[in-house]
Amino acid sequence: MREEHNQEAQESGQLPKKSRREMSRRQFLSYTLGGTGAFMVGVPLIFNLRFAVDPLLQKKQGTDYVKVAKVEEISEVPQAFKFTVHQVDGWYESEPTMEAWISSDQEGNIFALSPVCKHLGCTVNWNGSGDYPEQYFCPCHGAHYTKDGEALAIAPAPLDQYEVKVENGWVYLGAIHANERV
Ligand code: FES
Repeated sequence: MREEHNQEAQESGQLPKKSRREMSRRQFLSYTLGGTGAFMVGVPLIFNLRFAVDPLLQKKQGTDYVKVAKVEEISEVPQAFKFTVHQVDGWYESEPTMEAWISSDQEGNIFALSPVCKHLGCTVNWNGSGDYPEQYFCPCHGAHYTKDGEALAIAPAPLDQYEVKVENGWVYLGAIHANERV
């Protein structure tokens, strides 16, 4: 039937209708060159993108435990200890100096508090004011805290606490977190 129709069309000088859409040579070349170009640009782009963001996908380092003090140095009176940690954040590596107030409680449990005041971030000192003996005191606006870090005035929260690990006679400090003693 279709052949008859095409034959009629040829006889009448018309071009036969195409039975289905066929790709022209120009379209074929466009698709082929376009696809090849996209592949050549896309593959290196994906690898470079992966390389660029890879450090951001890595777990931040610097939260491991650090050896800070000998157990025999620790008493019930808080003492300040300084130590450095190795931090890797993306492409940036640093070794900031940290500080901790370390002491033991009446049961002999060792704990360590951050010296960063929870008001506006100044540094607290044990027995820092004659008005507040046996307490941490912040010289900036007068916040003071108990030995466990409980805020008694000005500051809205207790002093943060370090993770503590005791091993082979040494005190190791880990990540800082919210105070769990008060
Ligand atoms: S920063 Fe410590 S009291 Fe304000």
